[in-house]
Amino acid sequence: MPGMRGRDSDSCIAMAKEKFKRTIRMNSKKSGFSTRAIHSGEKHEETGSVTTPIYQTAPFKFKSAAHASDLMSGREKGYIYSRGLNPTTEVLEEKMADLEGAEAALAQTTGMAAICAAVFTSVKGGDHVIADEVIYGSTYDLFVELKNFGVDVTFIDTSDPQNVEEAFRMNTRLVFFESPANPTMKLTDIKAVSDIVHEKGATVMVDNTFMTPYFQKPLTLGADVVVHSATKYLNGHGDTLGGIIAGSADYIKSAKHTAKNFGGSITPFSSWLIIRGIKTLPIRMDRHNQNAMAVAKFLKGHDKVESVIYPGLPEHPQFELGRKQTSGAGGMIAFLLNDAKNIPVFLDSLKLCMLAVSLGETATLIQHPATMTHAVVPRQDRIRYGISDELIRLSVGLEDVRDIIDDLEQALFTEKP
Ligand SMILES: Cc1ncc(COP(=O)(O)O)c(C=O)c1O
Repeated sequence: MPGMRGRDSDSCIAMAKEKFKRTIRMNSKKSGFSTRAIHSGEKHEETGSVTTPIYQTAPFKFKSAAHASDLMSGREKGYIYSRGLNPTTEVLEEKMADLEGAEAALAQTTGMAAICAAVFTSVKGGDHVIADEVIYGSTYDLFVELKNFGVDVTFIDTSDPQNVEEAFRMNTRLVFFESPANPTMKLTDIKAVSDIVHEKGATVMVDNTFMTPYFQKPLTLGADVVVHSATKYLNGHGDTLGGIIAGSADYIKSAKHTAKNFGGSITPFSSWLIIRGIKTLPIRMDRHNQNAMAVAKFLKGHDKVESVIYPGLPEHPQFELGRKQTSGAGGMIAFLLNDAKNIPVFLDSLKLCMLAVSLGETATLIQHPATMTHAVVPRQDRIRYGISDELIRLSVGLEDVRDIIDDLEQALFTEKP
C-alpha cells in the first residue's frame, strides 16, 4: 500500500476504518443525500489521495505465517484476497449502505450476481418464494430455475397486497418485487406488503434499480433487503456492470459468505467507476426525472400512441402511492403504440435514441420488452402480466429534452415502406 512502508499496516487499516466510521456517523447525522453520495465511505489514505484509489490486486501480502493464520481464522480483520474483500469495493459498499439507510452492503459483479447471492442467502431447498410477476426477464428466469434447487416460486401481482397475503404458505421465506416494475412501471406498496410479510416472519426483498436510494428507500419503508443493478443509474454512464445488496449487518455477513463461494465479486475498477457515478447521482436523477416528465407529456398527446405509463403522470393508476413512497418518478417510461406492427419501423427510424437493452445512463435507450428484455417470459404469461407486444420501454437520458422529443416525433411519423 502506498505510504505504508515501515509501518504496521494492520494498525493503519484499523485507524483508517475507525476514522472513517466516525465520518459516516457524522455524515449520517448531519449531511444531506448529495453530500453523503460524494463523501460517505471515502478513505483518504496515507498519500492524501482525494479520490479513492483503485486497489487493483488479487491477493494482499501477509506479514508472516502467524499473520496469515490470524486473518484466515478470522481472529484478526484485514485484506486477504479481493474475491472476499478489497479496499476500493469496501468504499462502494459503505457508501451504498449509508445511502440506502442499511447497516451494511455487499457489491457484486452484476445486478444478477447480487440478486442470485441474495436469493440463495434467503432461501434453501424446501422453501417457498412469492415473486411479483412483472420483474426483469433474467430475474424471472432465475426464479423459474429455483425449482431445480427444490424451491417453489409463485408469481403473483404484488401491486395488490391482498394477493401477497393469499399466496402465503407455511414455508414462504421470501417475497420479491421491483417498484416500479420493469417494464410495466407498476408500483407495489412497500410498507403495506412489508407489514403483511413480517407478520408471517418472512423476508421482503426489493429491487430498487429504477428509483435508486435518491428517490426511494425501501428499507425505511419496511423492506429487509434491497438489491440493485448498479450497472444502471448508480454507475450512470453505461460503461460497467455491477450489483449491490443492502440490509442488516447479520444478513450481509451471511450474504458475503454465500457470495464469496459463488465468486461473483466485482472488480476494483468497476467499483471505482460506480463510486464515481454515485457522486453525481442526485443531479443526474433530477435531470432524468425532468426529461422523462416532458417526454411522457409529449407521448401522451400523440395520436400514434395508445397510452403512456409513467408514475409521475396523474393518470398513472398508482400516482398517489408513488407520491407517498418516492420523492421522484425517475427516468423510465413505458408506452404502447396503437399497432404492434409499427414497432420495428419506429425503432429503426430513431436517430438519437439508441436501440439497446440497458437503462439509467446518460444516453436515451429504447427497447421492445416482448422481443428483447422479456423474451424469456412465455408469451401467454407475458401478455397476462401486461407486457404486451405493443409495449415499448424508454430510458430517458440526459440529452437536451427537445432533441429527444424531436427524435421520437420524427420516428413516430415514419410510415411503413
Ligand atoms: C430491474 C433490474 N434488476 C436487475 C437487472 C440485472 O442487472 P445486471 O444486468 O447488472 O445483471 C436489470 C437489468 O436490466 C434490471 O433492469
